[in-house]
Amino acid sequence: MRAYQIVGGNRLAGTVTAHGAKNAVLPILSAAVLCRRSVIENCPTLSDVAVSCHILRHLGIAVDRQQSTLTLTRIDEGCRDIPVEWMRAMRSSILFLGGMLARCGLVTLSRPGGCSLGGRPIDLHLLAMRQMGAVIEEEGDTLRCTAPHGLHGAAVQLPYPSVGATENLLIAAAGTPGETAITGAAREPEITDLIAYLQGCGARIETDTDGVLLVQGRRELTGCRHTVLPDRIEAATYLAAAAMTGGEITVFARPEHLAAPLAALRRAGCRITADAESVSLTAPARLLGMGSIVTLPYPGFPTDLQAVFMAMAAGAHGFTSLTETVFEHRFAHVEELRRMGADITAAGRTAVVSGVPRLQGASLACPDLRAGAALVLAALAAEGQSTVTDVSHIERGYAGFVPTLAGLGAAITPVEV
Ligand code: UD1
Repeated sequence: MRAYQIVGGNRLAGTVTAHGAKNAVLPILSAAVLCRRSVIENCPTLSDVAVSCHILRHLGIAVDRQQSTLTLTRIDEGCRDIPVEWMRAMRSSILFLGGMLARCGLVTLSRPGGCSLGGRPIDLHLLAMRQMGAVIEEEGDTLRCTAPHGLHGAAVQLPYPSVGATENLLIAAAGTPGETAITGAAREPEITDLIAYLQGCGARIETDTDGVLLVQGRRELTGCRHTVLPDRIEAATYLAAAAMTGGEITVFARPEHLAAPLAALRRAGCRITADAESVSLTAPARLLGMGSIVTLPYPGFPTDLQAVFMAMAAGAHGFTSLTETVFEHRFAHVEELRRMGADITAAGRTAVVSGVPRLQGASLACPDLRAGAALVLAALAAEGQSTVTDVSHIERGYAGFVPTLAGLGAAITPVEV
């Protein structure tokens, strides 16, 4: 099994450029099933992107990769079912549902896998597809989906702004002639990036004064050249790494997408300056507790940074309370941080952290992608040596994680255990 060996205590300093955002590129690749030819720039090299490319090839799209640019060309109709092993490999494989229903009118797939953060139902995705005319039969984990008369435009109200359900709906609506109105849509920057791609491909999408998304779809989308936006979660992870080690860093990303995490870093005592395309951070000798952090849909504090900021709070002077409202079970890192000496009391959806002067190195296992990154950061800030196992989770979401951290001065080495 692959693992990282880390010797904590080095001050991290330097400059990092965020890669293209994982959570933006995955829905864009799913939407590409509707298009004749697309060129997607700034694609990160991640295992989830590789899985999406396997699925695209299977669905009749030729994929050519030159460095970070993917050229996607339709070569056949590709109306095929999606094999269960690719559905299980990642949660985002469910995003192929909307595009395949719009393009082919039928697809059989299974419930998706991905990080285990609680139940992770897909009821909102299915509700949206049904409102657009899909008939979905569920048999165990298998979903047989058809649109006997083709999908049609619809007025869909999402009871919760699910990121994935909004994306599936946008993709389905963009490939369906007629108008679809989406009320209660998610507003994450990755959704805005997907909209920009679909607009470039020929769909008309606008937001009315009440925040309702109006989509005018077309049967044939052309495709376009699109550059994926920088990854705000990756950017904030490196800012946190520098903050936790008393360091200094400049990260090239979009500060406008980082308002909530930057506010928490300021409360922790970091000095932060930003221009349109970069953020610079200088950490104090010891961080301060950050008060209350509550995860919420964008523009609230991102759930994907809850674990990282808990690791930061574990070594800060004072208290931080972190409340997770987005996912049911997203505290798997608490037990691992305690093994490093962290003082954390978790009850229900809230964890209260009382910072200790110094965490201690330990043997740690990554429970999921973002918790894994949080444990690596904790190990970098801790005294002594740590071994972090199950790092394949981390490599699903952070391109070049080890070389980037090493470039900032971290003592981190990949090993087989
Ligand atoms: C996406 C991101 C993930 C991030 C999350 C929230 C990708 C690839 N993943 O995940 O990194 O943590 O947004 O910002 O972009 N829910 C339902 N029914 C549904 C769908 C969701 O009840 O049909 C619930 C989920 O269980 C969860 C909440 O809604 O409690 C948020 O999920 P959602 O916004 O859909 O997240 P994902 O799209 O899975």
